[in-house]
Amino acid sequence: MNSELTSDRTDYLLYEKTAAIYDSQRFCGWAGRWGHHRQVAILKNLTDNWQGKKVLEIGCGTGRITESLTRWGAEVTASDISKQMLQAARARFSTHQKLPAPQFRLMSVFDIDINLQGYDYVIMVNVLGRLSKPRQAIQRISSKMSKTCKFVFTFPCLTSILFPFGLLVNARGKSLGRDVTSHWYMPGTIEKYCSDAGLRILRLFGHHYVPVPRILFLTLPLFWACDQIIAKFFPRRCPSVFVECELPATAER
Ligand SMILES: C[S@@+](CC[C@H](N)C(=O)[O-])C[C@H]1O[C@@H](n2cnc3c(N)ncnc32)[C@H](O)[C@@H]1O
Repeated sequence: MNSELTSDRTDYLLYEKTAAIYDSQRFCGWAGRWGHHRQVAILKNLTDNWQGKKVLEIGCGTGRITESLTRWGAEVTASDISKQMLQAARARFSTHQKLPAPQFRLMSVFDIDINLQGYDYVIMVNVLGRLSKPRQAIQRISSKMSKTCKFVFTFPCLTSILFPFGLLVNARGKSLGRDVTSHWYMPGTIEKYCSDAGLRILRLFGHHYVPVPRILFLTLPLFWACDQIIAKFFPRRCPSVFVECELPATAER
């Protein structure tokens, strides 16, 4: 990697070290699996038909989301800055031999060198909150997009019902109990990053994902309410928010 925007190692070092146990730590038990299914359901409904859609996934990790995208028929380029995470993702596809394997790329979001002409989606799930330079990441992605491409990403939301956790995380500058960059954002900050990068926000989808299944488990009734009621009417009150955005037709390219 050679760009001046190459990532801070604390953004991803934890993932290098824990790639082999990443899924079992976060998506184990039914609380963890529920969080996973909620994210996958939101992505599934973004379009009527994923068949043949071209997708660049950034920060694909172990291929948790990549697997669903390929099952739906999307043509995926799955990228990550961590060799170990990519290795875990490759292993997932070699054990599911009926799945069409995506193309894998070792690449930082700050160094995207793929021509995105013809791509339908750029997808980045559970990554923005880990980046020490989120504004630059959004700018880099936007600079590579065409007007027919949509960018879909999640961010940890500071105006959510879990804001005390968010405030703690922000005060530490890293995750609670884990040594990795972490930051929760006010929706207005994310909106500003998008508009500064020339992107127009189309939709927000709130959901309850937080990467700690045990906390999820203790607070299941709260999260159930979050999913059934809060997500529908007040997406900005959910702990994690999907943003779908695009370049406006008038954007200069
Ligand atoms: C919390 S994990 C999410 C993985 C996957 N998207 C998921 O939701 O299961 C964050 C991922 O972002 C990757 N990452 C961190 N910094 C990155 C960067 N600058 N460019 C690309 N990926 C990065 C990490 O290596 C890690 O795999």
